[in-house]
Amino acid sequence: MDIATTPTNPDGNPELADAAPTPHRPPVIHREDYRPFPWRVPTTDLAFELGIEKTRITATLAVERNPDAEPSDRLRLNGDGITAQSVTVDGEAVNDWEMDGPDLVLPLAGDAHTVEIVTEIDPSANTQLMGLYASNGMLCTQCEAEGFRRITFFPDRPDVLSTYRVRMSGPKEQFPILLCNGNRAAEGENGDGTHWAEWHDPWPKPSYLFALVAGDLVANSGDFTTVSGRRVECNIWVRREDLARTDHALESLHRSMRWDEETFGREYDLDLYNIVAVSDFNMGAMENKGLNVFNTKYVLADKDTATDGDFDAVEGVIAHEYFHNWSGNRITCRDWFQLSLKEGFTVLRDQLFSQDMRGEAVKRIEDVRILRAAQFPEDAGPLAHPIRPDSYREISNFYTATVYNKGAEVIRMMRSMAGEERFRKGTDLYFERHDGEAATCEDFVRAIEDGAGLDLTQFRLWYSQAGTPRVRVSHEVAGDGIRITLSQQVPATPGQAKKQPMVIPLRLAVHSKANETTGTEHIAVLTEAEQVFEYPLTGPDPVISINRGFTAPVIVERELARDDLVFLAAHDDDPFARYEALQELAVDHLVAAASGETSEGGEAALVEAFRAILADGTLDDAMRGELMMLPSETYLFEAMAGSGATGTRKADPGAIHAARERLKAAIGSGCAEELDALYDRAEEVAFDDPAGRGARKVKAQVLVYAAASDPAKAAEMAARQYDRADNMTDRQGALMVLAGLEAPEREERLADFYDRYRGNDLVIDKWFTLQALSLHPQVIAQVEALAQHRDFTIRNPNRVRSLYMAFAGNPQGFHAQDGAGYRMIADLILKLDPINPQTAARFVSPLGRWRRIEPKRAALMKAELERIAEADNLSRDTYEQVSRSLD
Ligand code: PHE
Ligand code: ZN
Repeated sequence: MDIATTPTNPDGNPELADAAPTPHRPPVIHREDYRPFPWRVPTTDLAFELGIEKTRITATLAVERNPDAEPSDRLRLNGDGITAQSVTVDGEAVNDWEMDGPDLVLPLAGDAHTVEIVTEIDPSANTQLMGLYASNGMLCTQCEAEGFRRITFFPDRPDVLSTYRVRMSGPKEQFPILLCNGNRAAEGENGDGTHWAEWHDPWPKPSYLFALVAGDLVANSGDFTTVSGRRVECNIWVRREDLARTDHALESLHRSMRWDEETFGREYDLDLYNIVAVSDFNMGAMENKGLNVFNTKYVLADKDTATDGDFDAVEGVIAHEYFHNWSGNRITCRDWFQLSLKEGFTVLRDQLFSQDMRGEAVKRIEDVRILRAAQFPEDAGPLAHPIRPDSYREISNFYTATVYNKGAEVIRMMRSMAGEERFRKGTDLYFERHDGEAATCEDFVRAIEDGAGLDLTQFRLWYSQAGTPRVRVSHEVAGDGIRITLSQQVPATPGQAKKQPMVIPLRLAVHSKANETTGTEHIAVLTEAEQVFEYPLTGPDPVISINRGFTAPVIVERELARDDLVFLAAHDDDPFARYEALQELAVDHLVAAASGETSEGGEAALVEAFRAILADGTLDDAMRGELMMLPSETYLFEAMAGSGATGTRKADPGAIHAARERLKAAIGSGCAEELDALYDRAEEVAFDDPAGRGARKVKAQVLVYAAASDPAKAAEMAARQYDRADNMTDRQGALMVLAGLEAPEREERLADFYDRYRGNDLVIDKWFTLQALSLHPQVIAQVEALAQHRDFTIRNPNRVRSLYMAFAGNPQGFHAQDGAGYRMIADLILKLDPINPQTAARFVSPLGRWRRIEPKRAALMKAELERIAEADNLSRDTYEQVSRSLD
């Protein structure tokens, strides 16, 4: 689409269109165009003279010709918003270099040279939080993907590996702690109030893994002894006032280190492992070699300030960054198109770790819920891309649920097909073959093929084809066997009209409803557009349980009688399949109800299925809590869009919300007694009891249903739970429900929460979030007021997300009929883009879903995207997302 000539609003107001500036179009970068860099950089020496407002960097690069590349007599060093104070080659000042846009290009005639460049930057002015920036009086860096070029000129690409020596100096009082990658080599005082430290990282690394931290920090330290007996000093660095909340992070790190030795045979390779928590951070955390930098959100946790979910997230992210040491750092990516090589694999590794720590079934359900809420909509929308994209304008836009979570699912499928043991042979071979290299997804697949003994020829389509495959299931009974017909269809996605059949491994079993028996498990690997699988029957009245454990990231379309789903929900031996049957019952009913179709008996069947779940003595509460969660509204939009007889139906957010609230009320009143009994039982469980987490989870769910069916009673229960809580999980669960109610208890408890936690940023983030997410009818006005609150700041990404990401995920507010929610998010994008483009661009995708939404809202969403597209000087990040969303 041509943005410059597009009408600005649905009726094409020409005045505004004429006023639209000509946008600059950042170039498209293609995977096919990859060429090795003509130069190698065996060593990089960096000297930092640190200051919050002025930091001076002297970079000394040893460069030599790369025999594996097309030769060149020029050295192109990437830069971004920096200028060179001086350039010397082999000790001589030179001035025959030139700037090509942001890059510095230097003629080099010989085979090997030493290039020295001096730059100066102002970290305090760095609001993008890429490169070197200031946060709470400390200095820290973020270099992935292309932030290093904001510090100094460098071949800032992941296939240029270099050994770094870094010297940092700065005022001692302001920066008593100086940290960098690798090991501390030397330190000393300059006698003028400044001090210095030298760090050496023995492992060659790409520039995106560089990190530096200078600040007034204290550490929670604890040694880890590796399997071969080496002692590793582990430190969690935080501000002094946060130290008491770091034990969980340190323990999680130690558990991750042990697990990776035991499960993947990976041992840590330095004597030091530093983690630093910073409060201004665009993402979750960063795996810089030996010096991880973390968002405080994924480090700090104690019972009073963090929920059970927060504890899990800390453990998961600590593990994720640790696992990157092998899957990411020892073996890195050849180019950014290969991002899923490290991210997909590392997400799988952290998921498997958490499954082992906390139980497989519940963790699997959580991961599938995330996939469906974040990745399925992405795959069905304008931003759909394969896990290995073919092109991009701004790589920051490709840190997506597709690259991360679908990437993990793709590797999980390989593991399911190979079995655990053979999969391990494959990963062993991968680590052995590519250690020290910048590798590709293809390298990974080949190593798994060779090591695990699989043929993945056709399976590779998962790397190149976008879109969530749909698998249709039908069957017929033939004598004492069953013939199951599976067919697949991969939907068209942007740039990919025609798709080929994929390899889809599905664990399945055939149960007998009449005998109430469960069948043995098979794995059916669907490779053709349509295929028949035959299995013996174990009894009459067969019911197929398919995609057990969610072996494949697909949408299963089966026409099961409601009775069959009820049977599976109550009896399936695979916990995921039980969850799935309940979800399907709810989806079928809610989509029908939202579409104005009769769903006779649907509600009653769900109430009964719920009653069975509430009464089932074989379930623990952690699992019961999962089963009690209805499908999210976003997931229901996906199910409603494209449904109906002609397959052209659009999602109606208002109707879905109303139908879902009605169902919650029906369950709440239909199962009132059982829910009360469950609550009373759960309330008796102490915080530290092994059953405590499950108990807290079901209590939160009971409140949710009570709020829908009996708001007055819910307000009373929630206020009581809030007042008696001895932990954040109970307190937040209660307040979340209260925030959605029009009751006096609401204001009182919100005020109490704020007073109690004032000054604790992470908890105040929760205070913003639970109001932005609430079911309160006035949520838009409330969010507008919160944006004016003295604690709101657009400069801190956590705070911005706590208010606006939460709001964008609140369908009732975001999809308000008059478009006020869309306007609010578009206003935010325009305001945030010049400050922090990476974070601004992440708010585009909720608006980008307009094509799947009913026409009135779709027009309002599209108009907001067009309004953004017309703005002057949009960042590359936001430009790319908006233009793709309008295409
Ligand atoms: N590589 C980081 C991770 O997945 C994510 C990240 C990307 C952080 C870009 C910062 C910037 O762990
Ligand atoms: Zn990662």
